Amino acid sequence: MQIKEYILAIESSCDDTAAAVMDTDFNLLSTAVASQKIHAEYGGVVPELASRAHQSNIIPTVDKAIRDSGLRKEDLSAVAFTCGPGLLGSLLVGAAFAKSFAVAIGRPLICVNHLEAHVLAHFIKDKENADCPQFPFLCLLVSGGNTQIIFVKSAFDHDIIGRTIDDAAGEAIDKAAKILSLPYPGGPQIEKLAMAGDDGFLKFGNAVIGGYDYSFSGLKTSILYTLRDKLKEDAAFIDMNKASIAASVQKAVIDALMKKFELALKDTKVKTIAIAGGVSANKLLQQRVKELGERYGCKVFIPKLGYSTDNAAMVAAAAVFKYNEGAFSGLEVVPYTR
Ligand code: KG4
Repeated sequence: MQIKEYILAIESSCDDTAAAVMDTDFNLLSTAVASQKIHAEYGGVVPELASRAHQSNIIPTVDKAIRDSGLRKEDLSAVAFTCGPGLLGSLLVGAAFAKSFAVAIGRPLICVNHLEAHVLAHFIKDKENADCPQFPFLCLLVSGGNTQIIFVKSAFDHDIIGRTIDDAAGEAIDKAAKILSLPYPGGPQIEKLAMAGDDGFLKFGNAVIGGYDYSFSGLKTSILYTLRDKLKEDAAFIDMNKASIAASVQKAVIDALMKKFELALKDTKVKTIAIAGGVSANKLLQQRVKELGERYGCKVFIPKLGYSTDNAAMVAAAAVFKYNEGAFSGLEVVPYTR
């Protein structure tokens, strides 16, 4: 009988403290997350407050993940953590904890890149899903800070063939949500409001960029100026039309995302496509990607809600690839911000 091996993974790159335990066949045993509510009152993540909250949350979160897995500390074979990119103070909390814990239990350390982990979230096996993509596949990674089209050749051979040249798609959505006075993070609020709105209500301009690259700063400015002009004519414009403004913003961002993703799919001719990152929780984006897959005869991978936003299960999945290759890190490894 094959002896099972298990990895503890820790994620602390931004404002969620998360831990997960996974076996080396990608089966997820447990996952725990402590979200930080404190940032909502500031309308965005405050780095210093995030680091402090990670300090308070990390021990109970790791403790919960280990207890829920049914294992003991001694049963773990390695300790993985997100090494970057992210907020330095937040990353340092996870890194310092992971290093100390690995030393304490006498196990190797694995450092994981947060963006690679988002892409590799599709390899998580749980009670509901054991299917995973075949390499190569094309992944649209859309988070609060990144918008990339990635040609994924193998677990860690990722060609970023398209990226935003300025703001990320999530940033444009969050900015629009702020103008609508919606609480942070704006994405889920925009999606909820948009359901009752008319997506043809407003049209926004955006810069045209060549190749597979994106630009969202023009769209952000267009949203801002359009609403500012409407408010001059009618001070109640935003309050009276929130749902339709949200639907128009959502459509503009998703149209822009899909245009380049389709172009990349046409050219690469892959047969598997995926989406990843916080914005991939959006139901309209999911539907559009499924339709794209149908049109091109592709298999489509959409992450489960808990695996699209920041989580430790995806860090564990990336760590399993590294563990199986024997790709460990020394204690001298230091977090990086980008
Ligand atoms: O990947 P993520 O959790 O954090 C990082 O940036 O690493 O992504 C956060 C982004 C935010 O911009 C948030 O507004 C957006 O994902 N988001 C959504 C939805 N859920 C989260 N955007 C649109 N629709 C959603 N349902």
